[in-house]
Amino acid sequence: MTQKIAIVTGAARGIGAGTAIKLASDGMAVAVLDLDEDDCAKTVKEIENAGGRALAVGADVSKTDQVNAAVERVAAELGEPTVLVNNAGIIRDANLFKMTDEQWDTVINVNLRGAFLMTRAAQKYMTAHKWGRIVNVSSSSALGNRAQANYSASKAGLEGFTKTLAKELGKFGITANAVAPHFIATDMTATLAKNLKMSFEDVVETFKKQIPVQRVGQPADVAYAISFLVSEGAGFISGQVIDVAGGPLR
Ligand SMILES: NC(=O)c1ccc[n+]([C@@H]2O[C@H](COP(=O)([O-])OP(=O)(O)OC[C@H]3O[C@@H](n4cnc5c(N)ncnc54)[C@H](O)[C@@H]3O)[C@@H](O)[C@H]2O)c1
Repeated sequence: MTQKIAIVTGAARGIGAGTAIKLASDGMAVAVLDLDEDDCAKTVKEIENAGGRALAVGADVSKTDQVNAAVERVAAELGEPTVLVNNAGIIRDANLFKMTDEQWDTVINVNLRGAFLMTRAAQKYMTAHKWGRIVNVSSSSALGNRAQANYSASKAGLEGFTKTLAKELGKFGITANAVAPHFIATDMTATLAKNLKMSFEDVVETFKKQIPVQRVGQPADVAYAISFLVSEGAGFISGQVIDVAGGPLR
């Protein structure tokens, strides 16, 4: 069997790193893409130390030229990508009346435009191979969250984008799904704690009580769901949003 080539964006740390490592352990070669190529070294090393193949790629997913060049580089140096995980995402929280144009645009550009640019660049390899798997990382905030008008709009947009991809690309053997995590312990939720002026431990305790399984999530929880969705056997599941939230969100 030929090895599948996956791209995971925002894979220098957090959920993206966990996903890249999991897909490599599933047998895929993984392009570890993040803003700064040097930051990807840790994830790449972990994959290589376990006997896998990985490539560090520096690119800003919101920039067309960088995205196109990055995907071409993956095809040339690692192999033609047929698995794409659009995980790169940021928060710039503020209540609506205080939210600046810049906060709005930055979040929409990375979280939503970034997924569009990456998917447009990668789909040509998937259609050529008549097989592909796309997973977009949404959020519980897609359902609405205080101080996250920009972020929740980007994630709800990502869910609509996912369903359209499923309808357009299904005939090429490509599935597109989204995962919607709730609180996962990463740098992003550490920032959230800072924004709330609370210690990370206190925020974790608060969220634990609200989550049915009585714990917060870890990157590996999301990676496992993504691993399933990009697997061969998940080929009849498309256009879905799977909550990875220790309970139902919707
Ligand atoms: N942590 C959570 O609780 C949680 C919950 C729901 C959804 N999510 C989503 O999961 C994804 C990963 O979140 P995380 O918690 O691991 O965050 P994180 O901040 O730990 O990591 C995000 C990574 O994305 C990279 N990145 C940011 N902007 C980029 C850009 N323009 N181009 C390329 N890379 C870029 C960062 O450098 C970073 O390495 C995000 O889409 C986030 O919205 C996280």
